[in-house]
Order: sequence, then C-alpha cells, then structure tokens
Amino acid sequence: MTISTNKKQVMAHQYEGRITYQAPSNIALIKYWGKHGKQLPCNPSLSFTLSESYTQMCVDFKQSKDNKVLESFEFEGKKRVDFEKKMSVFLESIKEDLPFLNDYSLRITSLNSFPHSSGIASSASSNAALCMALVDFESRLLGKDHVDLKKASRLSRLGSGSASRSVSGPMMLWGDFESQNGSDDYAVVPSADLSFFNDFNDYIAIVSSGEKSVSSRKGHSLMEGHPFRDIRFKNARKNLADLIDAMEKKDYVRFINIVESEALELHGLMMNSNPSFILMEPNTLSIIHEIRNFRKNNSVPICFTLDAGPNVHILFPDEYKDICDKFIEDKIRPFTQNNIIKDRVGNGPKLISSELSIAP
Ligand code: DP6
Repeated sequence: MTISTNKKQVMAHQYEGRITYQAPSNIALIKYWGKHGKQLPCNPSLSFTLSESYTQMCVDFKQSKDNKVLESFEFEGKKRVDFEKKMSVFLESIKEDLPFLNDYSLRITSLNSFPHSSGIASSASSNAALCMALVDFESRLLGKDHVDLKKASRLSRLGSGSASRSVSGPMMLWGDFESQNGSDDYAVVPSADLSFFNDFNDYIAIVSSGEKSVSSRKGHSLMEGHPFRDIRFKNARKNLADLIDAMEKKDYVRFINIVESEALELHGLMMNSNPSFILMEPNTLSIIHEIRNFRKNNSVPICFTLDAGPNVHILFPDEYKDICDKFIEDKIRPFTQNNIIKDRVGNGPKLISSELSIAP
C-alpha cells in the first residue's frame, strides 16, 4: 500500500503497464464561445460526439522517482517536440488532481483517425483520450470499479474546454443549465431524451484544410469586450432550451432553425469583434445556399453547422441517406477540396485495452 507524498491518497494497488483509449472529437450544436476563470464557459453548450473521427492514445505507466511525469511522447510514429511540451505542461499542472502522477512516469503514443489538415478539432479528442486513460488508471490504483467520468471531463476541460464534452456520448451538455443538471466544471449526458438525433449523419465538407486564422484561445478572448456579449450569452441559453424542446418533440423544422442560427451567430460574433475575423470562405456560403435550396425543393430535413472555420458539417438523418448522398456528391463536392469526410453521431470513448500487472 502506498501513500503518495502529495495528497496522502491511499492506493490499494501498485500497478504498472499500459492503457489504451479511443476518444472522439465532437461538434457543438449550441456553441461555447467565450470563457472566464479556469476554462469556465460563459454559456452552456450542447454537442454530439463523432463516430469515425477520434484519437487513439496509448499510455504506459511505470513507477518512477523522477520528478517529471512525461518521459516521452510520439504522435503518429514520430517525436513531436511541440505537442510533447504542451502535454508535459498539462500533466505537471494536474498532479494535485491525480496524486499518483508524483510516483509514475509516462510514455505516450497517439494517433488520429482523421488527417491533421481536416479542420476537425483534435484538441478535444486527444485531451479526452488522455484524461480517460489517466482517470481509469487512478480508479484501478484505488480499487474502484468504475471510471469517474465527471473527473475525466473536468480534467479534459483544463486541457481544452470542448474536450470536456468528449468523455461520453452521444450528446453532452456542458455549463450551468437548470433543467439538465449541467455544471461549469464538467460535461454531463443530458437527462432529456435526445435520441431523435442518434441516427444523424455528419458529412464534413472540407472547403479549406489550411491552418485556422484565429486560435480558439484568441477567439474566446474576443468575447471579453464584445458589443453583443450579454445578448449572446442570453441567446445561447434560450437556444439551448428551445433546441432540447424541439429534439424531445422530434420537431425537424425548429431543430434546423436553431442549429443553423447558432452556427451563423458564432460567425457573426467573429465578424463583429474587434479585431474582426471572417472565417467563412466564398465556397462555405455556396454550400449553405445549396443546402437551403435542396431542403426547400425536396422537403428533406438536412441542415448545416459550422465550427470556427470554413468547413461545413452537413447533418441529415439515415432515413434520407440515399437522396442526401447523391445531392452532396453532385452539388457539394465541387465546392470542396474534393474532400468530404463521412461521419455520424457516435457513442463516446472506448477502452481499447488494458495490460496491467502488479509493480515489482
Ligand atoms: C467554436 O474548446 O477549442 O468549437 O477551451 O480554448 O481549448 P479552448 O477552446 P475550444 O473552443 C471550441 C469553440 C467552438 C465551439 C464549441 O465547440 O462549442
């Protein structure tokens, strides 16, 4: 039995070995844009996890007297000093929360299922995969029979706000919101019945795979002196309540209205900030027009959402897959870099393997 030097946390076991987790990226329907304090959101957000776009992270835990937590980090088979530095700073910063880190050193390898240039947020999937592995390992050391998802979400949030919403699925709610028991600290699976959305596809039309012209951190900070700040936070709250109601009632018309208006509001906020940013490109707008025309002319419940970039997430239920597939190939592909990622709503992270033994 070990008592760690830091928080006098009693460990029931002293394991060493490897834990591998897969955690998905997520995309918000109600956007988190603006934060305060230690990565706390200014408004509640609602997102779904993707099925095919994930990070797989393999963490080797070895007991060590070394002060440094991270021994090595490799991304897709290569040493990446930039990623390694960031991860090392993060791991040192969470030692208080995970006292076992004082007694272990870690070797980590990671890979993404999606290309680096696809515009899909890898910070969410990678922070969530890492924190799931860490919290899972801590649970085993303490002899617990479950992984504390709230803790995994809270720690993921410290790495990247939206990562808090990648530790479970399909939908996750983050931020204080009365009717759903949400919290600022960690994301929860909403208590409302949102299964309406479980059979939705998300085809990501890659308009541009270049670097983001504004980082998330910079983007969030633009909300600090934003002229529409208060209106936005009030609106997000209202949109969330309305969206949950529309989803519970399986009301496609209201669902589409709110989802599209949230996406455009995010981009409107960026256009109206100081300095101002336009992250949509001409082809982003062409795709939006195509989607709206197709919806109107064919009565198909297809709609779009956007991240903080030019690529378009096209959402539609399985029931309309054939007609939407054809429409997207014929009318949308020409506006992309000949690149459409076919994803759908997923179920959150997966433990891929755990190979642990009692430390010698
Ligand atoms: C537009 O979670 O990437 O995707 O907390 O600074 O890491 P940090 O920001 P991040 O912000 C995501 C913003 C968004 C909307 C959303 O995912 O809700």
